[in-house]
Amino acid sequence: MRQKINDDSQLPWVEKYRPQRLEDLVAHENIINIITNLIDNDNLPHLLLYGPPGTGKTSTIVAAAKRMYGASKYNSMTLELNASDARGINVVRNEIKEFAGTKQLFSKGIKLIILDEADAMTNDAQFALRRVIEKYTKNARFCLICNYVSKIIPALQSRCTRFRFAPLLPDQIRGRLEEVAKEEKVPLTEDGVEAILDLSCGDMRRVLNLLQSTAMSNLPSTSTSTSTDMEIDGDEKTTTTTIPVDETAVYLTSGSPLPKDIDIILSSLLNDTFRDSNTKICNLCSTKGYALVDVLQLLTLKLCTMTGLDSIPLGKLLDGMSQVECRLATNGTEEKIQTASLVGIFIETRQLMEM
Ligand SMILES: Nc1ncnc2c1ncn2[C@@H]1O[C@H](COP(=O)(O)OP(=O)(O)O)[C@@H](O)[C@H]1O
Ligand SMILES: [Mg+2]
Repeated sequence: MRQKINDDSQLPWVEKYRPQRLEDLVAHENIINIITNLIDNDNLPHLLLYGPPGTGKTSTIVAAAKRMYGASKYNSMTLELNASDARGINVVRNEIKEFAGTKQLFSKGIKLIILDEADAMTNDAQFALRRVIEKYTKNARFCLICNYVSKIIPALQSRCTRFRFAPLLPDQIRGRLEEVAKEEKVPLTEDGVEAILDLSCGDMRRVLNLLQSTAMSNLPSTSTSTSTDMEIDGDEKTTTTTIPVDETAVYLTSGSPLPKDIDIILSSLLNDTFRDSNTKICNLCSTKGYALVDVLQLLTLKLCTMTGLDSIPLGKLLDGMSQVECRLATNGTEEKIQTASLVGIFIETRQLMEM
């Protein structure tokens, strides 16, 4: 046998580091406390967890279920369904009926049914689900999970206790990120941390995926480098990365434009002639492989925080840029023409400011 890989080592880090206990979740302390109390008092209502992706909704309910049932009974007492499943509400209804309707021979207790992506259900399906929930309330608790609470019909909302999962704060992410990097022996620099925080927008799944993909793409090749030690010796497997995960590496991996390139683009848009600016931006985008839509997004953020730009020209620029973005979202647009259009908007606004 050349190599022994334990189960964990092949898991993506988002799964490997999924919090197993409620105490392990690094944010939403209030929600965790309330849910813990409800469980400990045997008083769990139907739940509706909502908020953007990667904020710990699934992790919270899975950890809560493990607290309620213990690892041994977790599987027999919990049913996880994807509510948006194309097979429709009838299948969901049948699975729920089968699960909630079967009595446990030796263990009592209320079962838990987790319905992920509930906001992708049609209104009809949601009305049907309302009846299902009513019917099985004696034997089961339901936990609906979704991104957009407004897409859940009021009749369902009112049957659940709602909890909103906000994007994680940088300080909450930072600790966890550094912990994982240490555990995986990834040399993570301070500007690397900042880059991951900037790009992930409070989504912990993106944080871990970005860390892992950057660390992987940074691994020096074993055949050419002496600095990587991938010695497989009996049961031991050591992997040491010596190339640091820094700002440049993170941005390159994510495909997102580097902040310094955005500075170059903005400076050119504000100072160069039409022709120079257009050529510079086209060249930069094609050599670095940037998508214009990513450039636009970062330019917008930059412009909004820039001092010294009056509201009227700023509004004009943002309006023009939003139109370029809208056109880019339509199939069949040509990036080069849209780049020229972006430059044109800046030139026009600059002329107005000089008048
Ligand atoms: N609050 C948190 N504390 C620690 N890790 C988290 C937290 N939220 C998310 N994660 C990480 O992100 C991954 C995705 O979280 P998940 O619970 O599936 O998010 P959601 O269901 O909100 O999209 C988890 O595997 C975990 O590694
Ligand atoms: Mg989820």
